[in-house]
Amino acid sequence: MRAKPHPAAAEPDVSTHAPRGRTTARSLTGEDPHLRAAYRLCHRITRVHDPGIHALFQLMPAALRPACWALWAAASVLDDLADQRDVDSTEREARVEAWTQALERDLAARISTDQVRHALVDTALRWRLDLPHLQGAVSSTLDEVRDRRFADWAEWRGWCEALVPWVDQVRHLFERAGAPMTLRLDRQRDYKQFIDGAQLTDVLTDLSTDLAQGLLLLPREALDPFPDAEDDLRHRRWSPAVAALIAELTSLARQWVTRPAMTTGMHPGAANMLDTAACLLRAQLDAVDAAGPALLKRTPRLSVVTRTRIFAPARLRAGLAWSLTPLTVPEPRRPAVSAHVPRPAADHTALRTSPPHPEGARPPQIPADQMPAHVAVIMDGNGRWAQQRGLPRPEGHHAGTAAVHEIVCGALDIGLRHLTLYAFSTENWKRDTGEIITILEAIRRDLDEGPLRDLDVRQRWLGHPDKLPTELVQALQRAERRTRNRIGLTLTMCINYGGRDEITRTAAALARAAQAGDIDPHLISEDDFARHLPHPDMPDVDLLWRTGNEQRTSNFLPWHATYAELHFTPGYWPDIDRRDLWQAITEYSRRQRRHGAAPLAITRDDASALPSR
Ligand code: FPP
Repeated sequence: MRAKPHPAAAEPDVSTHAPRGRTTARSLTGEDPHLRAAYRLCHRITRVHDPGIHALFQLMPAALRPACWALWAAASVLDDLADQRDVDSTEREARVEAWTQALERDLAARISTDQVRHALVDTALRWRLDLPHLQGAVSSTLDEVRDRRFADWAEWRGWCEALVPWVDQVRHLFERAGAPMTLRLDRQRDYKQFIDGAQLTDVLTDLSTDLAQGLLLLPREALDPFPDAEDDLRHRRWSPAVAALIAELTSLARQWVTRPAMTTGMHPGAANMLDTAACLLRAQLDAVDAAGPALLKRTPRLSVVTRTRIFAPARLRAGLAWSLTPLTVPEPRRPAVSAHVPRPAADHTALRTSPPHPEGARPPQIPADQMPAHVAVIMDGNGRWAQQRGLPRPEGHHAGTAAVHEIVCGALDIGLRHLTLYAFSTENWKRDTGEIITILEAIRRDLDEGPLRDLDVRQRWLGHPDKLPTELVQALQRAERRTRNRIGLTLTMCINYGGRDEITRTAAALARAAQAGDIDPHLISEDDFARHLPHPDMPDVDLLWRTGNEQRTSNFLPWHATYAELHFTPGYWPDIDRRDLWQAITEYSRRQRRHGAAPLAITRDDASALPSR
């Protein structure tokens, strides 16, 4: 795995000050819940993927942290895409490229349906980051897809240098915040060496993971003096040659990260961050040395005691150092458009706008901060709709398919980001075989021939392939591939989906990670759980709507819908049109969501001004 840029390396020569008060993602994003959720996800990705980096970011002025989370999360997502060894390099390259192109489009549109890109776009526009540089940093990930071999340290350093544009983004933030961050010329060498040291530490730390994937990210020049070491490493054999090589490399990395001159004359906040990073890297190198043969089996981690010993005093110093001068934090730059205008898809399909409502109905204008990001629907009442008309139940499902098209158009019209539909549950197998075949075949045909194909809709599937017809699974996978670059609406179809099944499988994935030593079972958090869900980027459900006059949630998205606003309507699904979705969203926009917090104190006058519910 490639080591990511070390943020502390972006710190030299900062002479700036920070706000006295606490600046959080909330105070940066105002009341825009999508943006807040996007930054929260980036924060979570940083904390879960790179706890050390997260702790270092905590030593930065609070106003700059959300931007750093966004940059870091983007680097992590790209890194993961480039690293997915279950697919071949062509597919990995295609995935990285698709993400990169989507970012380009999102930057032009100033908005994204993908949460990490949404935060990154906001960061880039708000802080006026150098976009060509940012895009250069993003596309440098493409190199990662191909297996890297380096003849000598010079080539290896060239690889490290590809990270500099990421690091520069962080330096840029300081400049935009009004903190001049000139790199002193006499410290340039130290600075470069520090980055190399951080990289080498990461390569040594990740040795077991990389070797498992057939990667050895060290130059020949370093391996050659230790005959047999390369062969032993590739076969994951701990030998005297490997032990000597590791000892040599940890000693080299220790020298490179120990650059006391680099912090001379620097702002104490920046110096603190850099010194702490160096301390952390040295402790990590101690852990590599102490691991011995275990280094080839699992990633050596720092103990809580070691981390506390490093970070507790550093946090005190940071608080003091940054508490003197405020930084300038620019306002967010919002997109000017609200109506959905499809852009050309990367698959060169000419995308259509959604057909208008038959009676010309137009969507209500919902303020951006009151729009749900994610609406999930239990489409109930197909059978009763058919029975009411003396028709066989399958006719209800055919009519229900038309209602799906109508709702997707309504979602595009109103600018919804995520729509998730419960089309077939793990419990639906209890139905009559003929009815099961009708539902599954209606979905299959719709994927291959239906009118959603050419709308700006990214289609995804949530559920399990067990028992599903192969043609349906293939059609679902084809639709996912074909639409993966679309950005208008993410439509997730839950097919052979059950909430408890999802939770059980996620728990099993976590147990496997714990067994492999990738996660400490005593420290498993909600974030770890969320990261192991089938679609970790799926946002929480804001609004859960069920038609058909039933008031239960029936094993639908239990993890994501914990805080969802519930909306039950009496009509049967086939009778639904897009105005019902707009009505549901309008009602949602009037609700006060508290997520467990105490209600806001309101005066009698305020109370009379509140919308009735
Ligand atoms: C619940 O109504 C509905 C289903 C189990 C199937 C829903 C499937 C569709 C609407 C087709 C989906 C098509 C696409 C393109 C996603 P019910 O049969 O339980 O109705 P009842 O409660 O009246 O019996």
